[in-house]
Amino acid sequence: MIFRQLFDSVSGTYSYVLANRHGGEALIIDPVLDKVERYIKLMEELDVRLVKAVDTHLHADHITGLGALRDRTRCVTVMGEQSKVDVVSMRVANGDRLTVEGLSLEALYTPGHTDDSYCFALGDRIFTGDTLLIRGTGRTDFQNGDSRAQYESLQRLMRLSDETLVFPGHDYKGDTVSTIGEEKRFNPRLKARDAKEYAALMANLHLPDPKMMDVAVPANMHQGLIRKRWRGAAGPIRRAKRRVLSGGWMSR
Ligand SMILES: [Fe+2]
Repeated sequence: MIFRQLFDSVSGTYSYVLANRHGGEALIIDPVLDKVERYIKLMEELDVRLVKAVDTHLHADHITGLGALRDRTRCVTVMGEQSKVDVVSMRVANGDRLTVEGLSLEALYTPGHTDDSYCFALGDRIFTGDTLLIRGTGRTDFQNGDSRAQYESLQRLMRLSDETLVFPGHDYKGDTVSTIGEEKRFNPRLKARDAKEYAALMANLHLPDPKMMDVAVPANMHQGLIRKRWRGAAGPIRRAKRRVLSGGWMSR
C-alpha cells in the first residue's frame, strides 16, 4: 500500500494519501486548501490518480481542500450523511465501505467532536479525525459537539484491537501515530469512568474559540471554495490565517 501522512503546520492538521499501487487510484483524507498544490504534485510523483477526497467532519480550524481538489482532479468529494455541507458528491453512513481500487475503508459514525464526525478504518489502522487525538480528544464545545456522544464514540474505538494504529486529524506536539492500546493506557481523557464524568471533564477545559472558526466553518460549508457570494470574505480569511500563524491549534 502507498501511504503518506502530510502535515499542515499552520493548523496542525494531518492529511493522508492512500493508494494500493503506483499507477492506481488514490484517496485523500482531510486535505487542507493551502496544501492542494503539494498534494497534486506528490500524487503525480507517486503516479497515483486521485478519485476520492474525504473530510472526516466539518472543520473549524482550517479551510478544506475538497472543493479545490474536485475542481483540479474531478475527484468525488465525500463526507458523512449528517454533514450540512452543500456540495459533497458522496455521503457515507455508519458501516458503509469507502472504496478506491484495491482499498476498502469502513466508515464509523463517531459523533461528539461535531455531529458529522466519522472515523475510517483500514486494515491495521484507523483514521480518527478529531474524535481521538494522541493523548487527547477533539473538543466538544461547538459545532453541535456533544461530550456524551463522544464518550460513546470513544468506547467504540476502544473495542478495536490494541494494536490498531491511530492516525489522528491533528497533533500539536509533533506526534504522528499511536495505537489504541497506547491511548487506553496513557490518554488522560480516556480515564473518565462514564459519560457523565467525561462530560464534566470536557466542560471544564475552557478552550478559546479556534481562531479560524468564523471563516473556516462558513467556507467549509461550501467545500472551501470562495464563490462569488463569498469573495468579500477573502480578506478576513487571509487575516485569520495570519492570526493563526502567531498562535495555534484548535481542535483539542
Ligand atoms: Fe475538528
